[in-house]
Amino acid sequence: MVSDTTAGRMVEGKVVIVIGAGGLLGRDFVRGIAEGGGHPVFADIVEPQTSEHLAIRVDINSTPSVMALISAVHARYGRIDAVVNSAYPRNAQYGRKFFDVTHEDFCENISLNLGGMFLVCQKMAEYFQKQGYGNIINIASIYGVTTPKFEIYEDTAMTMPIEYAAIKSAVIHLTKYMAKYLKDSLIRVNSISPGGILDKQPEAFLLAYKKLCSDKGMLDPVDVTNSLLFLLSDRSLYVNGHNLIVDDGFSV
Ligand SMILES: NC(=O)c1ccc[n+]([C@@H]2O[C@H](COP(=O)([O-])OP(=O)(O)OC[C@H]3O[C@@H](n4cnc5c(N)ncnc54)[C@H](O)[C@@H]3O)[C@@H](O)[C@H]2O)c1
Repeated sequence: MVSDTTAGRMVEGKVVIVIGAGGLLGRDFVRGIAEGGGHPVFADIVEPQTSEHLAIRVDINSTPSVMALISAVHARYGRIDAVVNSAYPRNAQYGRKFFDVTHEDFCENISLNLGGMFLVCQKMAEYFQKQGYGNIINIASIYGVTTPKFEIYEDTAMTMPIEYAAIKSAVIHLTKYMAKYLKDSLIRVNSISPGGILDKQPEAFLLAYKKLCSDKGMLDPVDVTNSLLFLLSDRSLYVNGHNLIVDDGFSV
């Protein structure tokens, strides 16, 4: 099966902030939103390199930076329809095997990633409450849903870090918490849990991974973007507090 890369006009006119827009997934989210008729805002801690879209540098762990992002987008468009949390902050030690993770690194990575997402969610929810509606989409992972399949990392330098399991499972529940807390405010909060995304991983790993899937194995960014567009669109108007798993059956 070839992935549908046409975005239709699913998000016509919608102003959508993509945080982590310079990343593997974020870049395709921006593309899909623009092709879908929306106005993506390219937000990243790395100085954004785009002349096509409104681009703003943001650090999700800085309150003034997050507030400045919201103000700048509001100043340009007068409204914000949605935010996509796809930033992936981690420190230099991130990705170690379980017994090699220090307490300091564990806490720092949880704080950088989960703490940053909390900050964006809280400040955007405040803005959306004043605006009278809003849509928050948090990028989680299948590893927030299922236990690690350590066997697929054998013979590679890769692992599934303990911090990732803690962060991603928390992202899914933080999402549901907010969906419930923001009841009666026309603010939707959903998460997407993607499976692994193709990014020049070792062949042995790709084969081992694929054996656990239904068809394709590791996915392309567009496979996640297509589901994101659904959640951003009015076709998912009453989908709230949901975790949409996009993993070709890996976690089944
Ligand atoms: N790539 C995968 O296989 C995969 C699979 C499942 C879930 N995910 C999730 O999708 C999300 C995006 O992943 P990715 O692969 O695109 O990551 P990536 O590392 O390619 O991109 C992440 C982006 O976040 C930006 N960023 C880092 N710290 C930031 C900060 N403090 N403030 C603002 N921006 C910051 C980086 O500059 C980078 O552009 C992550 O939450 C990740 O866990 C990825």
